Amino acid sequence: MCAGRSVLWTNPAYVPATDASARADLDHACADWDMLAPLLARLFPDLQATGGRVSSGLIPAPDGVFGTSAGTLLIKADHALPVAGSIKARGGLFEVLMTAVRQARATGLLGRDDPVTDLAQARAFFASRTIAVGSTGNLGLSVGIAARALGYRCVVHMSKDAKPWKIERLRKLGVEVVLHSADYSTAVAAARDATADDPDSYFVDDESSELLFRGYSAAAAELAVQLDALDITISASRPLCLYLPCGIGGAPGGIAYGARAMFGAHAHSFFVEPQQSASALCQMAFDAPSVHALGLSNRTEADGMAVATLSPLVRDRMHDRLAGICTVGDADMLRWVAAGTGHKMQFEPSATAGFAGPQHLMNSAAGAAFRARHMPDVDPADIIHVVWATGGLFVPDAAHRVFLQAAVALPPAYDLPQELTR
Ligand SMILES: Cc1ncc(COP(=O)(O)O)c(C=O)c1O
Repeated sequence: MCAGRSVLWTNPAYVPATDASARADLDHACADWDMLAPLLARLFPDLQATGGRVSSGLIPAPDGVFGTSAGTLLIKADHALPVAGSIKARGGLFEVLMTAVRQARATGLLGRDDPVTDLAQARAFFASRTIAVGSTGNLGLSVGIAARALGYRCVVHMSKDAKPWKIERLRKLGVEVVLHSADYSTAVAAARDATADDPDSYFVDDESSELLFRGYSAAAAELAVQLDALDITISASRPLCLYLPCGIGGAPGGIAYGARAMFGAHAHSFFVEPQQSASALCQMAFDAPSVHALGLSNRTEADGMAVATLSPLVRDRMHDRLAGICTVGDADMLRWVAAGTGHKMQFEPSATAGFAGPQHLMNSAAGAAFRARHMPDVDPADIIHVVWATGGLFVPDAAHRVFLQAAVALPPAYDLPQELTR
């Protein structure tokens, strides 16, 4: 890892199991999303067709394009998630709308039996309140879009990794963007400080938010319905392996938690991180406070994952629930961005990290040891691999072309285990 190579770490504390508390939390999250659906449909025309559901497709991966591995390879298409164009919509929209409902109920603006859709006409109420967040880009976009749709004042503190088009898009929505010439943790700390003394400000804390976590978790229930529709029943002989791009950990942690609630011992979740921003790996495997402590630079083209520390909340929840963590190089992410284009899938680099997962699990010695321990009697052909693609819908053509040009200049070889080494 320190040499900047792609690695797979399997978690020695991992215990696959049914998880009643995760299940109760997931049911709670799904009920909240149901409650919010009519308001979401009212605020966002893109969600009318789905009745206010924020959902994405589950697509069979085109043959051979994203690496060959035994088993079924499916792509969860959050790169095309409506409204905010990334997985962060699942958390950001949820937290902003849940906060709006809570504030409106607390002041009596919304009675217990009033329809939540009334909040779509409460701009004057929200205009005197502020929502603030620190972000590398996509959480800021999803929080900004939701907050401005209701009429909140919104302030987004952006780290130095934020892409100019994300900043521009937020400013066009009327969001105040504060640019920091420092990393993500500094941007989050600045946003936290700026709101601390203001009773009318609410801070979406990506480093420790239960609400974001719950919002993300419900995606696992959506996945279960989609697998069912494909006639895939997850079981001991047909396990699910999930590969989730990881930055601060909220999105992948929430979904991994939800997957365990849904599928119990038969779902194995892996985080995937950029080689130089392996914050979850540094903390969970080495107890290091940040990637810098192990000599990594936290520099990556995958802006959504340019994070030097893992959320303490996620670390705690994932202690024995996470199967493992693997890392991937920027060059490979760019190669997959280019590969997606040929199949009408518009990815940003962060979105593609998960494609490294099946290669690690099926082709490396660490992956073979994991399979021998946790799925000893499973025919590799029966494994269901779900790669979570996490963002890209809103990437402007010019920015996308820059990714493609960078990919064309790369040699074709991937920095991943190509065949099983024992
Ligand atoms: C496209 C994309 N993928 C993955 C992630 C990782 O999510 P998290 O930071 O919650 O771990 C992000 C975070 O912004 C993102 O923008």
